[in-house]
Amino acid sequence: RKDLLDTDTLTRAEIDLILETARAMREVRSRPVSKVSTLRGTTVATLFYEQSTRTRASFEVAAKALGADVVNLTASGSSVEKGETLIDTVRTLEAIGTDVIVMRHHRSGAPHLAARHTSAAIINGGDGTHAHPTQALLDLFTMTGRLGSLEGRKVIIVGDILHSRVARSNAWTLLKYGADVTFCGPATLLPRHFVPAVDGRRCAVTTDLDAAIEDADVVMALRMQKERQQRGLIPSLREYIARYQVNAARLRKAKPGALLMHPGPMNEGIELSPEVAHGAQSLIEEQVANGVAVRMALLYLIAARSRT
Ligand code: CP
Repeated sequence: RKDLLDTDTLTRAEIDLILETARAMREVRSRPVSKVSTLRGTTVATLFYEQSTRTRASFEVAAKALGADVVNLTASGSSVEKGETLIDTVRTLEAIGTDVIVMRHHRSGAPHLAARHTSAAIINGGDGTHAHPTQALLDLFTMTGRLGSLEGRKVIIVGDILHSRVARSNAWTLLKYGADVTFCGPATLLPRHFVPAVDGRRCAVTTDLDAAIEDADVVMALRMQKERQQRGLIPSLREYIARYQVNAARLRKAKPGALLMHPGPMNEGIELSPEVAHGAQSLIEEQVANGVAVRMALLYLIAARSRT
């Protein structure tokens, strides 16, 4: 496989290999000298047309930890601002010797287009409302690290599902690992036409968080994506907080010790109350830390493949 564009086409065996490699990478990161030279001679470019803190920075840390050279490009400050097309930009990166391009774009499908026009490997770092495969893989790594098997585990994903590439990519991996997945949010922010399903098992969809959260093993809150929402689509923030904020009272309805997750960046006080966001059940920082190991694994597996 040249590229990583979404989790829907990954087989269970491929995901198992990514998680196993990420465990080895986490061990490398825990050593006093946490760098290796496995990817010496490989050039990784991060090409971000949309803002990012976690994804871009952790890919840079991951690439450098493996000994790769890193080129960082954002739309502002590059020739994208002069009108250069996406295809010309990726071909330019290929021409200067880039092996792997980690790309984020505001348009759904942009990484798929790029992948068809370059022999460099494309890793999707988030495209529009479509997919965010590396986030889903680090979330899966975090959940399986805490819970072991996800077979029959109840995972609630709450918030702005309609615009969430994180929800979609997570649904594919979680269903493949046997979890029962529920999408929850205001009716205006739930998917209208398409709900992921694997082997006939479909994500449940509900507007009732108080009922859905009962006995949940994992509660994942999503960011309200105001930049993607049309006017009038969302309830008032006051109404959203009243019905959908994950707070201490709601979290108590989940299983004791249920995992609380959020891909970040979070609007603290909206999706999560501060006490749960920074409480004992919150795995938000663990997700970020695991992101480095998972991205090291992906770079290692994809760059090794592109060299053969
Ligand atoms: N979760 C995530 O994609 O965060 P960034 O937007 O900071 O990369």
